[in-house]
Amino acid sequence: MLYSSFKIREMELKNRWIMLAMHTGYAQERALCEREFSFYEARAKGGAAAVTIVLAVNEAGSLKGMHQMKSLALESLHELADRLHQYDCKLIVQLFHCGRNESMKHHREKPLFAPSAVASPIFKSEPLEMDEKELARTKEDFAFAGSLCKMAGVDAIEISASAGYLLSEFLSPITNLRKDSYGYDANKGMTYPLEVIRSVREKVGDLPILLKVSGAQMMDGGYGLEDTIFFCRLASEYIDCVTVTGGWHESPMEQISYHVSKGAYAPFAAAIKKYTDLPVIACNRIHDGETAERLLAENQCDLVGSARAFLSDPQFANRVERKEPFLPCQACNRCIMGVLKGQELACGFNPEAGREDFENKRRKIATRKEVVVVGGGPSGMEAAKKAAERGFVTTLITEERTLGGQFNLAAKPPKKDGLSAYVAYMEETLKNLGVQLVFGQKCSEEFLLTKKPYFTVIATGSQPFRLPIEGAEKAVFANDVLSGKISLPPQSEEGQVVIIGGGSVGLETAAYIKEIDEERKIKIIESQAFFGKDLGALSRPLISNLRAKGVQFMADTTADALEDGKVLISIGGQRFFLQADAVISATGSQACVFAYLTMPLMDERLSYALVGDAEKIGDGADAIKSAYELFTRVYLA
Ligand SMILES: Cc1cc2nc3c(=O)[nH]c(=O)nc-3n(C[C@H](O)[C@H](O)[C@H](O)COP(=O)(O)O)c2cc1C
Repeated sequence: MLYSSFKIREMELKNRWIMLAMHTGYAQERALCEREFSFYEARAKGGAAAVTIVLAVNEAGSLKGMHQMKSLALESLHELADRLHQYDCKLIVQLFHCGRNESMKHHREKPLFAPSAVASPIFKSEPLEMDEKELARTKEDFAFAGSLCKMAGVDAIEISASAGYLLSEFLSPITNLRKDSYGYDANKGMTYPLEVIRSVREKVGDLPILLKVSGAQMMDGGYGLEDTIFFCRLASEYIDCVTVTGGWHESPMEQISYHVSKGAYAPFAAAIKKYTDLPVIACNRIHDGETAERLLAENQCDLVGSARAFLSDPQFANRVERKEPFLPCQACNRCIMGVLKGQELACGFNPEAGREDFENKRRKIATRKEVVVVGGGPSGMEAAKKAAERGFVTTLITEERTLGGQFNLAAKPPKKDGLSAYVAYMEETLKNLGVQLVFGQKCSEEFLLTKKPYFTVIATGSQPFRLPIEGAEKAVFANDVLSGKISLPPQSEEGQVVIIGGGSVGLETAAYIKEIDEERKIKIIESQAFFGKDLGALSRPLISNLRAKGVQFMADTTADALEDGKVLISIGGQRFFLQADAVISATGSQACVFAYLTMPLMDERLSYALVGDAEKIGDGADAIKSAYELFTRVYLA
């Protein structure tokens, strides 16, 4: 069913995959640029039935790096439509107004407008309440933007009314405190969004219109699914399809991270489909063919939308159809966290995303040259991929029996198994590129000097860091627990597992232990005030899950010494012992760079570079990026 066609009004879609709206921040001038063309064209070529781009209806509604419809060079929009049409892919333009959801820092000091002067908890800046003039102007801008899309040969329009952006702010009693006819108390705030939708319809004639809604606000006191259904029923006079996402950016429930199960919010789409008779696009973590086929077969939706599956792999739709491996989205949220901070759209696992124009211009090397990559972790795999793609005869050598390095450990905690799929994808890709993989062999001086490679990439990763305290050797490393090399002793009556270090590794090790042994008592101690700092917003669901399972957290606490069965800790100037069945050290790592590799290379004047943790400690995405960037440097051309 996934690869059968579907019609929205006169728009014939070749399959059911819609690439959803993603603000990119790539806009620099008044016209769409080659970077944007290449980004979207790659996804069209990769099999999406339609690609959605986001354009602001006016300056007040724009985000940093977003084009505004009113000042956009229309011929560039036309060119984009033409470029997508080459692949039988349709162009959908989302008409967007951010409302209060943008940082003032990025809003060029211009005011933000919203139904009422209620600050966003994310961006903090207080918007101005829209007066009659602003309401009328904004409505006109939506309609005018619609007519421009029609002139430019766009195939469909999507009106943004989700996630806490302007039109959805009218629908919520939390953000719409108006007392006039547009207030929440009159028609549940639906009057203004409906007027906007109608005005767009009046301008665009029979061009298909999609409406993007949040199934529910998913906040205490916010609007619910019944309200959204009612809104869509009223809108159905003017629209042709509904794109249904989860809640708002500020909802306390996770929306798109790996904590959300696949297709978890599709029931919202199913309910809207049932009670409106409109076709619906389900979305949020529909990132594989099985989930998509299941939702279609269960009649929960007519089309499946994905933003990030197309970000991580532009060829996603074709690869799913051909049952080929694809680079799976890890739902790590690096993309959305960056965009919400005003950064350009990037993917933690596909460093080429947003650089397709640059990649399209890269040439292969002209003569036969060898590259040796030492290490098979995230940076080693990426380096070998790029080297082989550039035409180098590439060998990857690792002491391990498998590829993946620390990703094999990071995949162990609950919901992280996507990393194993990433490693499998990379292995397949390297084999297809003809990379010679040497497993279970330490890279010796002799190996390097026999090969005398044109370039050596040292991707030897890092080792856990041991705290410089008395008795430190009594602790086991988190990595050894995750790998199964060390099993924990049984739970004693008084004892517990004490994890030293409350960063991502400490928290995820606790989650892993709790998954295999629910009864296990765990205490995590952290010298700083916060836990999971390196996880950003993703720390919230992880910490609340751990708390719900009884894991205890001690902030501002240092481990001063380890003795048999106990840890001496300091907290608030006081010292005492914690009974411990086992102590797990999760206190960071240090680079593994081996002089026996670098010295002979230097002596022979052979070029080399360090990448990943061997160069600078970071997370997996940092490691991948550093390897990718090495191969963008001119001297490797
Ligand atoms: C980086 C990023 C930017 C996004 N920007 C927009 C946007 O401008 N407008 C919009 O309606 N949705 C936006 N979304 C939401 C997506 O369209 C989509 O609804 C959501 O990510 C769920 O799909 P996914 O799980 O396949 O990513 C964005 C999502 C991401 C990850």
